[in-house]
Order: sequence, then C-alpha cells, then structure tokens
Amino acid sequence: MDPSDVCPRPLPLPPLATTPHAPPIYPTSVWSCENPQQADDMLAGRLPGYVYQRDGHPNAYLLAEKCRLLHSAERAAITASGMAALAVAMLSQLQAGDHALLGNRLYGKSHQLFGTEAARLGIEMTTVDTCDLKATAAAISPKTKLLLAETIANPLLEVADVAALAEIARRRGIVLLIDNTFASPILCRPLALGADLVMESLTKTMNGHSDVILGLLAGKESVWPRVPQVISAFGMCSSPFDCWLADRGLATAHLRIERACDNALAAAEFLKSQSPRVTKVFYPGLAEHSQHALAARQFGGRFGTVVTFELAGGRPAADAFIAAAKRIPFCPSLGELNTTLSHPETTSHRGLSTDQRAALGISGGTIRLSVGTESPEFVREALAEGLRALDG
Ligand SMILES: Cc1ncc(COP(=O)(O)O)c(C=O)c1O
Repeated sequence: MDPSDVCPRPLPLPPLATTPHAPPIYPTSVWSCENPQQADDMLAGRLPGYVYQRDGHPNAYLLAEKCRLLHSAERAAITASGMAALAVAMLSQLQAGDHALLGNRLYGKSHQLFGTEAARLGIEMTTVDTCDLKATAAAISPKTKLLLAETIANPLLEVADVAALAEIARRRGIVLLIDNTFASPILCRPLALGADLVMESLTKTMNGHSDVILGLLAGKESVWPRVPQVISAFGMCSSPFDCWLADRGLATAHLRIERACDNALAAAEFLKSQSPRVTKVFYPGLAEHSQHALAARQFGGRFGTVVTFELAGGRPAADAFIAAAKRIPFCPSLGELNTTLSHPETTSHRGLSTDQRAALGISGGTIRLSVGTESPEFVREALAEGLRALDG
C-alpha cells in the first residue's frame, strides 16, 4: 500500500474485551461522526458524546466528574486555568451595567479581572471586607449581581464565613462565588454551605505536582445555563493531557492535603516559638487567629496548608532567610508536593503600593510558606536553617 494512504489514516481501535484500569488519554481535537444528524444532536446536547475538543472531551469529563462529586455539585467544568474559571464565572453571570462585589483581599489577578478587565465590558466592581458581614450586606446595591470571596485569603489567611455570606446573597438575590483554592474540597465544600458557584485553581494542591495549569468551576444548575457556551465561545477549554495529569494528582489529594495540614500546624507552632526573629505568625489553626473558631467549625478540624509569618528586620531579613533556607525553594505559587515559600511584596502583591500593602498587613518581612508533605522534622529543620541566618 502507498504510505500516503496508510500513514495519515486513523485506524479503528482494536477490540477491547477488558477495561483499562488507568484512564486513557484522548488527545484528539476532533471526533469522526457517523452522520450529520449525530453531529447535530451532539452539538445541540441532545446526545452524549464528543465532536470537537473545545466543546468537551473525556479527560475533562472524568476530572470534572470527580470534582463534582467532591463538591456535591450539580454541575462542574474544567477550564484552562484558575483565572479562566473566574473569567467563565464573570462572563456567564454578569453583563454590562451589572455590579460585582469583591472581597478586598482577593488574589491580585482576580482584582485585575473583575476591576480593569470587567470595567472595559461595562461591569462595575467595588471591594469590601467580606469578613465584616454588616459591611458586606451594606455594600450590595440593586445593580449587584455577584459576590466573590475567598475561603482562605492570601497572604494573611483571613477566613470567610461562607454560610453567612450565602445567607446574605440568598436574601439579596445575588450569586455567591467562592474561590476555594486555598481550602480545597478536602477542607471546605462551599456549595454545601449555600454558595452558588465555587472555583478552584487546580494548579495548586488539587493537582499538587507543579506540572499543570487548570481550573475548576462547579455550581448549581440554576446558574449554569451560560457556562458551557462561555467556555467554548471564549476558548477557555482544557487540554486532555493536563486533565489526565490532574486526575492522577487528585487521586492522592486527600492524603497529601491532610499530611500538609498537619505539617502546617506544626510549622506554625514552631514559628511562633521563634520570637523575636519571627514577630507574627498567621495561621487559622492557631488559637489566637481572629477566625480560629470559625475555621475549626467550617473546615472540620484542619486549617490549610499555608502559613504566613513576619520576620523582624523587614526586607533585608526576608532576603537573608530566603537565601539561607536552602531546602525551601522560593516558588511564587503554592500547593506543591514539597514545602515552598513566596515573598508577597515582590510577587503576588507587587502591583500594590507600599501603603496599600501596609493596610493589608504585608511588609518586606512577610513570608508565605506553602507547606508540603515532607516529615514535620524536615519542615522544622528547613525553617530553622533559614532563621539561623538572622542571628549574625
Ligand atoms: C486564590 C487564587 N485564585 C485563583 C488563582 C488563579 O489560578 P491559576 O494560576 O490556575 O490561573 C490563584 C493563583 O495563584 C490563586 O492563588
């Protein structure tokens, strides 16, 4: 046979009498349809199946389905990144003339999306301290259609009272969207507490292996109608290989997160004992954290994998600590398998002025630690190694 008639031609799969235990990867961009009617029925959603990868594929389905079950959600979808999940939420729920109310300590890019970018589409945004329930209720106007808060905010780890925010949103008839990235469904299931939509950056602890950028949006049927169309029309779809990797990461998420939460609590207690080199420790698991009781109730006895602390000596002390803590890579993300650290002033919060950062409690000496799955002794010794550099 002529190679040009053989090589490009997709052959039928061999007969499979058994089921693969690990899910196959389906990297195909397009599927062969039996006839136009079948394609029409699938594209209209009357028939299950796949035609074009941007509209859906089995690896996204498998990952979304696991996340849907973890969140007890009616619907779930995988997006190209956590930011894409937030963009899908914004574009599916809001239109020109609407107002969105945002927590004042959200991830910087979320502010950029709902502020600068949404403003270009005629959507207004204001911020409020979502830990202050009275102020939050008072900031809702007749134009407000969506309230966005983070379960655990970055970097000082304030905890949102999701059930109370859901009650405010329900009474005022607006959509509550929770960014649950720092908590994950292992600690918190915002939909079960009354939220309408939940998003997570799967890039972080849910995948947990630093090899994928992906997002999750899950929610109630009532807020879902535009979601699939927005994902497809704006092209915010996911790659099959990334979904496959994240599905594998997710298989151990509960074990990794539980271990990392235990390590984080131990690290927070160790850092607390390091005064005067360490002046403040922020962790919802510490009794002195202002929302410790709420966190204990809402998260079922675990408090997250991130610990933030402040070094005496400001930026020079942070530089010295980061250089000396050789076993803790300086990676401005979180949720990796191993313990990493970030410096909010120069990374996540660099877009803010010094005064704005000071108002949020962030200084040059603020370090954000994402605690991993090593032994507690390793984490303690790796921190001690960095702190010893401050003694000279
Ligand atoms: C709280 C939070 N939400 C959303 C995002 C965006 O996720 P991604 O980087 O997957 O787009 C991040 C990323 O750091 C985050 O920390």
